[in-house]
Amino acid sequence: MAYIVPKLTDFSPAALDAAVQQLLSALNQESSAIASENDWKAYRDRWMARKNGVLTQLNDLWLKAAPGPNKKDVGQRVNELKGKVEQTVEDTLAHLMSDAASYRLAAERLDVTLPGIRRTIGAEHPVIKTMNEMIGVFRNLGFSVEEGPEVETDFYNFEALNFPPNHPARDTQDTLFIAGQSEKPLRDRLLLRTHTSPVQIRTMQKMKPPVRVVCPGKVHRNDAPDATHSPIFHQIEGLAVDTNITFCDLKGTLDHAMKAMFGSNVKTRFYPSFFPFTEPSADVQISCIFCDGKGTRDGGPCRNCKASGWIELLGCGMVDPNVYGFVDYDASKYSGFAFGMGVERIAILKYGVDDIQLFFNGDIRFLEQFS
Ligand code: PHE
Repeated sequence: MAYIVPKLTDFSPAALDAAVQQLLSALNQESSAIASENDWKAYRDRWMARKNGVLTQLNDLWLKAAPGPNKKDVGQRVNELKGKVEQTVEDTLAHLMSDAASYRLAAERLDVTLPGIRRTIGAEHPVIKTMNEMIGVFRNLGFSVEEGPEVETDFYNFEALNFPPNHPARDTQDTLFIAGQSEKPLRDRLLLRTHTSPVQIRTMQKMKPPVRVVCPGKVHRNDAPDATHSPIFHQIEGLAVDTNITFCDLKGTLDHAMKAMFGSNVKTRFYPSFFPFTEPSADVQISCIFCDGKGTRDGGPCRNCKASGWIELLGCGMVDPNVYGFVDYDASKYSGFAFGMGVERIAILKYGVDDIQLFFNGDIRFLEQFS
């Protein structure tokens, strides 16, 4: 609201002093109530606007109305007032700005003594950790590492590994086939590898004996996930081909690897089995690490080995001579062994994990226990 300047009738110095005092106290009072830039603009206009601002009114109501003899005195006071109004309006803005700046400063204040945000350093995933440990064991035995694709052809995953055309392992129950491949010849059709054994073939195509490789990697099977199954898991394949490689070498190598992995007390047992690409084939069992192979624990049957004292861990065998036919190796000159093991299975035993899904859910509370 525009401040109404009183009309003066009495132009005596005392009356003028009183009127000036009144104006100044209104000026200061309004100034102290200003809280925003908009407030300030209104304030400035009220006092200084050319059209009807207080200063303009003073000119009309005081200066022009003053009788001749008082004009000089009134003029002087009006001028002084003008200076004070301008100064006060300017100071009010400066004050407002410095208040805003200090609010901003306060809001942006940084307490450098507060503890920082701790970012946890990532750690090896237990599956990768187990895989690397296993690779390390074989590396020390002179094996090198080979890798192959996860999307494979039927040739590498099955045909070259001596799977007969209608072998159940090719069944849609197990294998995840890539769609839209039916135009191609069977051997060229794409699928997700169901094991790491195709890397055996790729390695033998690439190099001549002596061959000593381990092939770690992801494999895929059409299994519904539950505590012991996962459609994606990891394997480590092993292959050694040279002159005079015997089943003894296979036994010695795997016995050493199992002892290196689970402790020198574990025993291994080779149990007859079947794989199309090895002959003879065996499943390797280790003495139960939970009951020390006794089959009983805490006065009852050991649940981990179903009281048998043995835990089945991997498949192996001597490379079937038919396989050499697919890679141009002289089967009369060379012999070799191969093995394949599930990495999750080993990690589950090693760390006492009761659900394979824990490896894939990405729950930090589980994973950080391995860091
Ligand atoms: N590839 C076989 C499997 O996935 C395991 C295996 C590898 C067996 C090498 C013998 C030799 O079941």
